[in-house]
Amino acid sequence: MTDLRGLTRRRVLQAGGTVALISAAGCDSTSKSAKTDMLTSAAKLPEPFTAKLPIPPVKRPSRSTGDTDHYELTAREASMEILPGLRTPIMGYDGIFPGPTIKARKGRRTVVHYRNQLGVPTVMHLHGGHTPADSDGFPTDLVLPVAGGSGYADQAVGGTTSAGTRDYTYPVNQRAATLWYHDHRMGFTGPQVWRGLAGFFLITDDEEDELPLPRGDRDVPLMITDRAFEADGALRYPAMDPHLVSMPGIDAAHMNGAIGDVILVNGAPWPQLEVEAVRYRFRILNASNARRYELTLDPPAPLTQIGSDQGLLAAPVEHSTITVAPAERYDVIVDFSAYPSGSKVVLKNGDGNVMRFVVGRAATDDSAIPARLSSIEPLPRSAATTRPWMFRQGKVTSMGEETDGWIINGREFDPQRMDATPRLGDVEIWRFGSDGHHPVHVHLSPFQVISRNGGPPGPGDHGWKDTVDLSPHELVEVAIRFDDYDGRYLVHCHNLEHEDMAMMATFRVSR
Ligand code: C2O
Ligand code: CU
Ligand code: CU
Repeated sequence: MTDLRGLTRRRVLQAGGTVALISAAGCDSTSKSAKTDMLTSAAKLPEPFTAKLPIPPVKRPSRSTGDTDHYELTAREASMEILPGLRTPIMGYDGIFPGPTIKARKGRRTVVHYRNQLGVPTVMHLHGGHTPADSDGFPTDLVLPVAGGSGYADQAVGGTTSAGTRDYTYPVNQRAATLWYHDHRMGFTGPQVWRGLAGFFLITDDEEDELPLPRGDRDVPLMITDRAFEADGALRYPAMDPHLVSMPGIDAAHMNGAIGDVILVNGAPWPQLEVEAVRYRFRILNASNARRYELTLDPPAPLTQIGSDQGLLAAPVEHSTITVAPAERYDVIVDFSAYPSGSKVVLKNGDGNVMRFVVGRAATDDSAIPARLSSIEPLPRSAATTRPWMFRQGKVTSMGEETDGWIINGREFDPQRMDATPRLGDVEIWRFGSDGHHPVHVHLSPFQVISRNGGPPGPGDHGWKDTVDLSPHELVEVAIRFDDYDGRYLVHCHNLEHEDMAMMATFRVSR
């Protein structure tokens, strides 16, 4: 059960004076994400395109041995100037948001020596990692605060606790791809990621190196998030427990997901990047808690997709718009050579702004977009077990009380219950159904989208995926193979407020 502590939800609510909110959640199942009240900022917001796009620093290994790179990573509190003239307290890996970029090489093991200097438990998860279960960051495998975190045993239901530090071992036995790491603490992932616990983890390999794709500073990671700010610059997030100690969840008015009025790219509000008039590769990651983006360029220009969540596509796909659900990644090429010097090209989200590119001088460009990028063998589908996974709103138990939440196959998350037991090496067909918008993510294994509502996959479904965007009343079928590692893993909605309010399930891969 998701009960974490003895206190009842009602008592906490009354203490906080917000008891009215508990019944305010709507039940209209047709437009979940649209219905969410946007969090609006009280702080003075900057004009768009006045900030410079930050590039997260690449982390250096503390030590490299034959086949292993070691990193020391510390989660700690810090403050950052996100809005001009204001300080924003954050939780950051190494005290920054986004966290440092970890660059890994296929075939070389990465070990993260992780230290939790925050005041609350954390769990680190490598999203998209093909990772043994004990390093995957199960939500109740808590890393307690270095400074005295003893009161959390009851939150580690079905999991383990580590006192202050632990090692995460990633074999990186997987193809080049844009992955990311983020917090995954049971019941508190939404607020802890919102406060800054997210960073890029980029894998390279020989196959990708051989392609003439843009590289160096023409290969730019873009972590897109939305946030809202209090008048003093603090992040606005209506957590049930602002200290994130015991009571999970967000106030009922935002149970559909936290959506803010400020778009940050790599932690800066509506930033600008000066580019040369050449091809660039952008690794777009939607690290927002709940917002989906419909990205276009203005003036219009193609976004040529070369990669998805799990690396290169078989062949490039041209889009005029890309729809990016939470946790999805799109690797795209934009060719600025068509624009005269001085042109301003805006990356839009519908009618809103995300960031702007200012095109500078022409420069030599030996990059190209090969017609063939990789080979993607379709997973065999005959005789596979089919499993239904239905994602919808429903009643869940929180702090001993029934409340509105989010459920899968009619049940709320229980870390001690196994909801599926695929066998190692098997291919299965998983059918995801939805009542509203739910970005569905599976740990351990990448998958291939086979169909949408009985028809062909959608424009964003190419290649190997680990997260798939479900719109209201959709049925998406994927083929998935369980390779290499046995043990317990998660399938869940990556709308982090849904996830925190019980929209997760476990599966155990068995030998
Ligand atoms: Cu990106 Cu289970 O998470
Ligand atoms: Cu994941
Ligand atoms: Cu959801």
